[in-house]
Amino acid sequence: MARSRSSGKFKRARLRHALFTRGADKLLGGRLLERHLENEIVVREHSIALPSWRSSHDGLRIGHMTDLHLGDLMPIDRAEATAELLNDRELDLVAFTGDAVDLEHDGVDRFFRTLASVPAPLGHYLVLGNHDHLDDPEAVVGAAREAGITVLLDEAVSVSTGPDASLRIGGIDWAKRPSECSEKVELIAGDGEPPCDLLLSHNPKGFIEAARLGIPLTLAGHTHGGQVAIKGRPDRNLAVAHRLSAGFYERDGSVLFVSTGVGAWFPLRVHCPAELVVLEVRSGPWSDPDRLPAD
Ligand SMILES: [Fe+2]
Repeated sequence: MARSRSSGKFKRARLRHALFTRGADKLLGGRLLERHLENEIVVREHSIALPSWRSSHDGLRIGHMTDLHLGDLMPIDRAEATAELLNDRELDLVAFTGDAVDLEHDGVDRFFRTLASVPAPLGHYLVLGNHDHLDDPEAVVGAAREAGITVLLDEAVSVSTGPDASLRIGGIDWAKRPSECSEKVELIAGDGEPPCDLLLSHNPKGFIEAARLGIPLTLAGHTHGGQVAIKGRPDRNLAVAHRLSAGFYERDGSVLFVSTGVGAWFPLRVHCPAELVVLEVRSGPWSDPDRLPAD
């Protein structure tokens, strides 16, 4: 991984940002960005029971954050305040599924320090998204590790949860195509069966192989839920290239949760609020996730 501001991808992203964010905002006299930044970030609590979830991890509470896109659409103060919404949630671990930054990575070290200060005895984990790769992925990884966050690059770690129990958390680096995602999931497989209890993948397409391998739970982001959805149907949205675009999906007893994320890549969200998620995972007969009231 190397600094890549001269790459075509970075230049295209900068052009997109100039058109859809700065350009659109200028046309509307600065009101678009101002309104976007006034939108509340909601904290959603979900509780889900999975037959494949080990009873030793019954009731695990995960703070799931994704797609921050630190930059013009997510100033550092708002980013830190967002992370602080996870304080006092009695979490066991915090999972960040990519796109911490939008273009440049400046300021992300400060955000990671705040994220790492969220109480979570089993730790803080991060995978990279496509935007983290635009500028300087090594700097993003370095800042996260410096803050005490475990960065998972096609690997899994085990964390002790009791005298004879451990939770295995895997994470794959950004990949675009389903076949690339599958290859990365296979890299973490090792001897374990399933290879991990929990998989973090920026791209929801990582779930295809995760389900085949019997990984009970995968957390993803990337789609932003299209940022514009049909009222009451978060899965019917502008992310038309993604069949798995928002909410819970099940395949062969494995579950994927795709969060619509806290940030944005254009300053508009319609029927698709920015969200931070607290997920309580129980061991037991499959249940539809309850949407619990969030304060
Ligand atoms: Fe994103």
